[in-house]
Amino acid sequence: MASGSLYAVSDLHVVYAENRQVVEGLRPVRGDDWLIVAGDVGEFFADIEWALTLLRDRFARVIWAPGNHELWTPPDDPVRLRGVARYEALVGLCRRLGVLTPEDDYAVWDGAGGPVTIAPLFTLYDYSFRAPGVHTKEESLRRAHAAGVVCTDEMLLHADPYAGADDWCRARVGLTERRLAACDPDRPTVLVNHYPLVRRPTDVLYYPEFAQWCGTELTADWHLRFRAAAVVYGHLHIPRTTWHDGVRFEEVSLGYPREWRRRGVPRPMRAIFPALARV
Ligand SMILES: [Fe+2]
Ligand SMILES: [Fe+2]
Repeated sequence: MASGSLYAVSDLHVVYAENRQVVEGLRPVRGDDWLIVAGDVGEFFADIEWALTLLRDRFARVIWAPGNHELWTPPDDPVRLRGVARYEALVGLCRRLGVLTPEDDYAVWDGAGGPVTIAPLFTLYDYSFRAPGVHTKEESLRRAHAAGVVCTDEMLLHADPYAGADDWCRARVGLTERRLAACDPDRPTVLVNHYPLVRRPTDVLYYPEFAQWCGTELTADWHLRFRAAAVVYGHLHIPRTTWHDGVRFEEVSLGYPREWRRRGVPRPMRAIFPALARV
């Protein structure tokens, strides 16, 4: 049994020099600590490789789930892959580094709080967290455009060969559901997703129109159906702990320098097990 801790972090956004410095300071407290990285490491392949290599060298195990930023095809990234091909290349990169992805067998944490199955997920969004008072995706997107609150994903995240992110999302939800249903039914899980699985955490967004890029109603009962001891997510850049149906949800984002500077010295690593304050 591992004597270390299971930590989590997300939204490292290493394109910012100050965030790279924060990542350079991330170290295990004990030699056998594990680290979950819940997406938005960066947009550029070289940046993602730099950060995951550094973390892989330090932590006993690193588990990654993709964020929307990893799936962007920025115009100045020499890697021109889009959509599913880009995701598959990221999985290939992680496999070369020995970092676990949603495509690998789920690891079992048997340290404090375990044994639990740690399931990194990739379910994207389908615009079902619609803007208030509207009933279709199209209406919701129109509302966002009118409010001037449009996620950069609309320009840089391509879903090829799917028609859109919502089709890709539905395909991912279907296959992920089957994998989770096949897990040991006696063992609790830690569900790791870039997005919050339930809509409630998005209620505090400053711009409610942004919620449509933050998840899907299709995962609303997964924390209960799949026995989550904890759900780890990011993307909102609102780090906090909330409880939904008695399940602990941890938003573990670092965020952009202008966001974390307000909170003082960044200490982004959150202990999932044992559940402690930040280190
Ligand atoms: Fe982010
Ligand atoms: Fe994100």
